[in-house]
Amino acid sequence: MTGAASGIGGEIAMRLASEGASLEILDRNDGSAVSDQIRKAGGTANSMICDVTSEEQIDAFAQAVDQRHGRIDILVNNAGVLSGRAPWHTLARDEVNRFIQVNFIGSFLVTRRMHPLLKKSHAGRIINVASRTFYLGNPGMMAYVASKGAVIGMTRVLARELGDEGITVNAVAPGMIATPGTLAHSKQDVIDESRMKQAIKKSSKPQDLAALIAFLASDDAEMITGQFILADGGGYLH
Ligand code: NAI
Repeated sequence: MTGAASGIGGEIAMRLASEGASLEILDRNDGSAVSDQIRKAGGTANSMICDVTSEEQIDAFAQAVDQRHGRIDILVNNAGVLSGRAPWHTLARDEVNRFIQVNFIGSFLVTRRMHPLLKKSHAGRIINVASRTFYLGNPGMMAYVASKGAVIGMTRVLARELGDEGITVNAVAPGMIATPGTLAHSKQDVIDESRMKQAIKKSSKPQDLAALIAFLASDDAEMITGQFILADGGGYLH
């Protein structure tokens, strides 16, 4: 899985490991704290520094995974960059490109390289972490929202293209969670304001999304594909 060195990804990794998955973590930052924690709890995990925009680094990761396991069953594309707020017309081309490259192209490159290993699974799963901002159209977040819209678009097409291989492809999103990524741009009052718009006004936790991902990764979810599912306490209804 990608982007598990911090934030929501670490919880997703730990949840999947607790259900018996052997975790292979890639992140542009050191993810060894998470893989060590999984191993201490009796699970299996490795982590590797890898930027999802580098085909060379992704290839090195895929080769290492192939040598250790020979196949993968679940791919979680969670790595992403989060956004502050700025009017759309003030965005420089490079800034828009950064969101598209990491959030969309990164997920595409990782999925394309891992696909041959996923095909060897009897029930492959691709789970992409998107964002409900695609539906909400959050003002000031054009590049981020567009990049996550592209992830949802990719999810839908791959669901159709990979169905005959028995691979399901879904997108998921949490409510607003106070992670290093969000706290870099938003203060707690923004997170509280988002919480108050939910039907269930509890704070969204990484564990909520991790539980949804664990379900989508399970055999029970073999007929769920091409969907975008939220674990956001009813913050956005669609
Ligand atoms: P975070 O910033 O705390 O964690 C993101 C992780 O992705 C970090 O470990 C980071 O090193 C890694 N990463 C970033 N760019 C990378 C790259 N180029 N290559 C490899 N790894 C890279 O963010 P958070 O909040 O945990 O977000 C995780 C995912 O959830 C993201 O895709 C984000 O868009 C999505 N999300 C988060 C929400 C929130 O409220 N926290 C809401 C909706 C979606």
